[in-house]
Amino acid sequence: MTSVTSQTRLVTPAPPLHPDVEVLAFLLGEWRGEGRGAYPTIEDFDYRDEVVFGHVGKPFVSYAQHTWLADGSPSHTEVGYLRAQPEDRVELVVAQPGGRVEVEEGTLRSGHFELASLAVAHTGSAKEVTEIRRLIDVDGDVLRYELEMGAVGQPRQFHLEAELHRA
Ligand code: HEM
Repeated sequence: MTSVTSQTRLVTPAPPLHPDVEVLAFLLGEWRGEGRGAYPTIEDFDYRDEVVFGHVGKPFVSYAQHTWLADGSPSHTEVGYLRAQPEDRVELVVAQPGGRVEVEEGTLRSGHFELASLAVAHTGSAKEVTEIRRLIDVDGDVLRYELEMGAVGQPRQFHLEAELHRA
């Protein structure tokens, strides 16, 4: 029987990387940095961002993000999985604690991801998000991303940008 420990192990000890996700190997590890956020319905804000990409030897890469506002209070967090597909295609599923899950697809070319939501599903009390677009650029030990969303009755527009460095 598989133990709980081995089911939840995300980073160490590292088994061999599954060949299907070798194209995502440059993501693996911990990233830390700073970002800024805005939306027409809220106050602009700055935040600290920590991201971990891991693997368990299966054909997916796990993703976990935690953020904190400038006063140190915890803010947005999300977890998900990435899978690489033929012809530079990438698939991402993400769960967010505010009662949303996202299904995204897009491309990965030369360290540059362009992902767009195919579906966003909500629990009854979640704030409505109709559309997400994520641009992620990895250049060596620097990861930059920009996130646009359509939400709470607004058309798709800027919500976040951040720059993280490999920890
Ligand atoms: C895909 C990722 C994200 C989605 C879909 C998302 C969605 C949203 C939505 C729907 C709102 C409510 C806007 C309103 O009530 O008018 C919001 C607000 C906010 N978001 Fe994001 N967000 C994301 C990521 C983040 C991240 C990474 C941070 C980093 C700190 C962040 C910080 C905030 C803050 C501070 C607010 C205003 C206060 C609040 O409503 O909690 N968000 N976001």
